[in-house]
Amino acid sequence: MKKKLVATISIIICIFLSGCGILSISVDKDGKEENQTPGRNIVIGFSQLGAESDWRSANTESMKTTFTKAEGYEFIFEDGQQKQANQITAIRKFIQQEVDYIVLAPVTETGWDTVLQEAKNAGIPVIIVDRMIDVDDDSLFTCWVGSNFELEGKKATKWLERYVEINEIKHKDIHIVNIQGTIGASAQIGRTKALRDAADANGWDLIAEVPGDFTQAKAREQMSSLLEQYDNINVVYCENDNEAFGAIEAIEAAGKVVGNNITEGEIMIISFDGVNENAIEFVKNGKIACIAECNPLHGPRVQAIIELLEIGGSPDKLSYVEELFFSADRTVTQLSIDERNYGVVIP
Ligand code: AHR
Repeated sequence: MKKKLVATISIIICIFLSGCGILSISVDKDGKEENQTPGRNIVIGFSQLGAESDWRSANTESMKTTFTKAEGYEFIFEDGQQKQANQITAIRKFIQQEVDYIVLAPVTETGWDTVLQEAKNAGIPVIIVDRMIDVDDDSLFTCWVGSNFELEGKKATKWLERYVEINEIKHKDIHIVNIQGTIGASAQIGRTKALRDAADANGWDLIAEVPGDFTQAKAREQMSSLLEQYDNINVVYCENDNEAFGAIEAIEAAGKVVGNNITEGEIMIISFDGVNENAIEFVKNGKIACIAECNPLHGPRVQAIIELLEIGGSPDKLSYVEELFFSADRTVTQLSIDERNYGVVIP
């Protein structure tokens, strides 16, 4: 009797709480309860630019594992497949679906004004993540979180400058090629600018700049062709790790040696990201001289922004992520050993 009374009271409390929107329990197909944050369903439309690199996969994973049903989110994912037109279509779809927030990882910087004006007119906050956008009116997006790509490039070029000086190499004997990322993407613009500035300042011979689209396949193709055209390349600046993998394959296929002893005919590789364990392995064994980290774990950062907006707060307009630098060469840098929350330690 007593048991029956307790059960009845519990049911009444449950009905009352769920009626107030305080309690919400969802049940999966096997009848098991799925945890769900009480009383909310925040709908987020995420337009991801594509799946070109290991970095991008880690970024997508970070978003998907952050915005779960259990945390009270409905996450709509659209893959732009490297095309801005697809991303614009996705944003229009999100507007029609009346999502609560649009999160955009833009493929390139320009060309967003019209569609973001449409989102603004619909009253949907837009959060930009990873790469930046270049719009006339900054009120078209709520805020941005991502990397300082030019700073990453400056770290890498500073490393090369110090390596050259410590090893008493003449700056004019640096014959460098740049395998760029997707042309017009912030990551490409910032990293390319840093290299051009450093080449100018130090008198390095910047032989060529070619697009590699942040992919291994394109970089391999470009590197093979560069090796056929130029026989004096001794440094390859790859604007991400996947490009570095492609460049290494091409160099080795051409019978040349990848390594830091550029005075002895080796070809040095400089890279960005540091997401993939293979890249870190290459740093340890000297195939990649250094990597300026680009951190892909934006899910929790975007979540913090959304939660702040939910309670009426104002996030910073621009938030730069702190990033590390990896090199196994202790003569050049003290920053060799570090542990990242997604990754690997260089012992
Ligand atoms: O925008 C970040 C860059 O995009 C990463 O460096 C690269 O790997 C990715 O594709």
